[in-house]
Amino acid sequence: MVSTPHFKLNTGHAIPAVGIGCWMGRVGEGEHVVRMVKHALDLGYRHLDTASNYGDEESVGKAIQESNVPRQDIFITTKLAGEDHGRVSVALDQSLKKLGVEYVDLFLMHWPQALLDSGEALQPNESPTFVETWQEMEKLLDSGKARSIGVSNFSIKTLTTLLQHARIVPAVNQVEAHPCLPQHSLLAFCSAHGILLTAYAPVGKHTYAADEDIVRIAKSNNVTEAQVLLSWGVQRGTVVIPKSENVDRLKKNISLIELTSEDMHTLNKFHEKPNMHRSVCGFHSPELGGSCFGWNYEQLGWDMTQGGIMKRT
Ligand SMILES: NC(=O)c1ccc[n+]([C@@H]2O[C@H](COP(=O)([O-])OP(=O)(O)OC[C@H]3O[C@@H](n4cnc5c(N)ncnc54)[C@H](OP(=O)(O)O)[C@@H]3O)[C@@H](O)[C@H]2O)c1
Repeated sequence: MVSTPHFKLNTGHAIPAVGIGCWMGRVGEGEHVVRMVKHALDLGYRHLDTASNYGDEESVGKAIQESNVPRQDIFITTKLAGEDHGRVSVALDQSLKKLGVEYVDLFLMHWPQALLDSGEALQPNESPTFVETWQEMEKLLDSGKARSIGVSNFSIKTLTTLLQHARIVPAVNQVEAHPCLPQHSLLAFCSAHGILLTAYAPVGKHTYAADEDIVRIAKSNNVTEAQVLLSWGVQRGTVVIPKSENVDRLKKNISLIELTSEDMHTLNKFHEKPNMHRSVCGFHSPELGGSCFGWNYEQLGWDMTQGGIMKRT
C-alpha cells in the first residue's frame, strides 16, 4: 500500500493530495462506480471526489460501506448542483443520505451559475447569486455536516467578487488543470488567498500523454506518462483527482515520483508549445456558442481566444 502526501486546508483539515475522480463521463454507471471505488480504497486511495450531478453518490456510499476502511479515514468531497443554489442545506442533507454518511469533508459549489429546475441559468445578478449561495454554504460549517467548504470552476474574476463578500475563505477551488491548461495565474491567486487548487482532468483525459517531452520524462523515471502528469500536479501544490476504472492504472496513478527542477520547468512551459494551450473538457467547445451553462466567458471570467483554445493562465 502506498502512502499519499497530504495538503493542509485553511480549515486545518488534511486532504490527501491524490483522490479518485468518480465522474464516469455519464450517469447510470452505478455498478462500475462501486467496483472502481472499492478497488481504489483497497489500493490505498483515501480521497473520493463525487458530486450530486454525477448521479453516483449512492454508489460511492455503497462502496464505502462494503469496504473495510473506516469512514473517518476517508476524505469525501461532494458538490452542490446549480439547481440547488436556492436550497443549499436541503441539498447537502440529500447528498449525505445518498452517501450514507453523517458529514462530508468538503462541500463545493460545483459552478458559480445558479440554474432553474428547467436547467436554464440565472444571470450573475439574479438571486440567488453565487455570493448568496456561498453565504448559505458558510452556515453549514456550524452544523458539522461539512467540515470544509469551497468552490469549483471559479476564475480570478468570480473569486474576487466572492472574496469581497465572504466571511469564510473557500478552502478549495476545483478547476481543470494539467500541463496543457496549467492555470498558473489562478494557482498563484488561490495560493495568495490560502485557497488550495484541486486539479480536475489532471491527466488531460490521457489525450496528449504520447507527446515526446512527456514520454521522455516518463522513460527517464521508469514510470507511466500519467504518473509524470500527476506528480507534476502535486509537486506544484495542487490536489489531483484522476479517474480510472483500470486497476493497474489506479495503482500507478497514486504512486508519485519527485521530478527534477528541469522536468518541472518543461511541464510548466508545456502549454507554450504550438497549439498545446487547451482545455480537454467540453465546457469550452465552440459548439456551445461562447457560453457555458448560460453564462458567457466574460461573466465567467474566462479569457478565451478562438476555437475553444483557452488563454487563462
Ligand atoms: N468540478 C468539475 O466541474 C469537474 C469537471 C470534470 C471532472 N471533475 C472531476 O475530476 C475527475 C477526473 O477528471 P476526468 O475524468 O475528466 O479526467 P482525467 O482524470 O484526466 O482522465 C480520465 C481518463 O483518462 C484515463 N486514464 C486515467 N488514468 C490513466 C492512465 N494512467 N493511463 C491511461 N489512461 C488513463 C481514464 O480511462 P480509464 O478509466 O479506462 O483508465 C479516463 O478515460 C472526475 O472524475 C471528476 O471527479 C470535476
